[in-house]
Amino acid sequence: MTITPQDLRRAFPGDFTFGVATAAFQIEGAAKADGRKPSIWDAFSKMPGRVFGRHDGDVACDHYNRLEEDLDLIQSLGVEAYRFSIAWPRIVPEGTGRVNEEGLDFYDRLVDGCKARGIKTFATLYHWDLPLALMGDGGWTARSTAYAFQRYARTVMARLGDRLDAVATFNEPWCSVWLSHLMGVHAPGEKNMDAALHALHYTMLAHGLGVEAIRAEAPNMPAGLVFNPMVTMAGSDSEADKAAEERAFQFHNGVFFEPVFKGSYPEAFMTALGDRMPEIEDGDMEIISQKLDWWGMNYYTPMRVADDRSEGAEFPAIKSAPFVSQTVTDIGWEVYAPALKHGIEELYRRYDLPEMYITENGACYNMGPNDDGVIDDQPRIDYLAAHLKATAELIKGGYPIRGYFAWSLMDNFEWAEGYRMRFGIVHVDYETQVRTVKKSGEWFKALATAPSKADDMAA
Ligand code: FCB
Repeated sequence: MTITPQDLRRAFPGDFTFGVATAAFQIEGAAKADGRKPSIWDAFSKMPGRVFGRHDGDVACDHYNRLEEDLDLIQSLGVEAYRFSIAWPRIVPEGTGRVNEEGLDFYDRLVDGCKARGIKTFATLYHWDLPLALMGDGGWTARSTAYAFQRYARTVMARLGDRLDAVATFNEPWCSVWLSHLMGVHAPGEKNMDAALHALHYTMLAHGLGVEAIRAEAPNMPAGLVFNPMVTMAGSDSEADKAAEERAFQFHNGVFFEPVFKGSYPEAFMTALGDRMPEIEDGDMEIISQKLDWWGMNYYTPMRVADDRSEGAEFPAIKSAPFVSQTVTDIGWEVYAPALKHGIEELYRRYDLPEMYITENGACYNMGPNDDGVIDDQPRIDYLAAHLKATAELIKGGYPIRGYFAWSLMDNFEWAEGYRMRFGIVHVDYETQVRTVKKSGEWFKALATAPSKADDMAA
């Protein structure tokens, strides 16, 4: 029996925030509207062999044209907060130079629309849609991109900084650095360690410059960064696998957490790859490690690792180890809620971290409407319930988790998987753009609107 949403709600503090999340490129569509220019994801998705079915973001969920209706939908789910991202190619279409007021107007309407409906706004400045024009300078492998980001951040904050509730510079640098420049899965599709190491440092620098921009325009705005920490777990108790797990931790998490929270790159990583990093200029590490008000964790699945002994294996010299749980979602990711708990404990043990939000958590299940038009996605409910229970236990243990955002508000463009992988708690029919709240959406609403313990006591 799954725990009832009402009982689950009582396990959280009264002021805990429940929200839903999306990202611009995944839902907006309207790729050429009102002065928007292409991003690296427009280019990437139009190249054969990159995205499943050669799907692209031209229309997506047509959210750009259905803004009011979608904000009503969010309100109807009874959630308190909405996490969305701002499309850089709408605001500064060529990456540098001309600012596009019409792009800013869209986010003005979005933020005001949320305010009018009593919904808090958590904006992300970069969720992977780099203006394509910046590839002319090397994209994230160029230092100049970090300064272009700073100016874009300042432009956004000058317009919206008086009304947002929180802002994050980046979503998941792991993806825009390693997955995009080393593994070649995401735009721009590079598979090159040297490129990835440059993207790493310049993304970190851009984050720090972005924090400066936020503070310059909106000094009281809670500024944060959203990570997708790999919850690394050794495939066996052998010393070799345990050492591999530590290397994996440093490569996948340490390279992002340590610069931001300690002002340095991990020693083992620098020993192995430091000579291939771009020049770290005087002052860079201070810019990167400015104090943050909050951080976000996106979590879906653990990373099980074993030692890779093959000749010439490059740092971190790891390979995948088998799943432990038999439950796997439709995208093939292992379902294992204890790793959410382990991951957060481990990160607070290693770093001096501020308060946090679970900024994304959810599951891919692709079932559509049955004959009655109902989308019965019980496995998604089970997934959400298990991970929310783990979250509540962490809070009881004293971890400062302030909120939880379900990924995602609605089915959308799942990057290299195109539209075939569905994470929404609301179903989208891409032919008609009809949105239908899934069973999980009703469940999440019941959770978000249920009275907390504090409400009971006040009554
Ligand atoms: C995360 C991304 C988000 C979504 C989910 C499934 O890595 O931040 O955009 O694609 O995965």
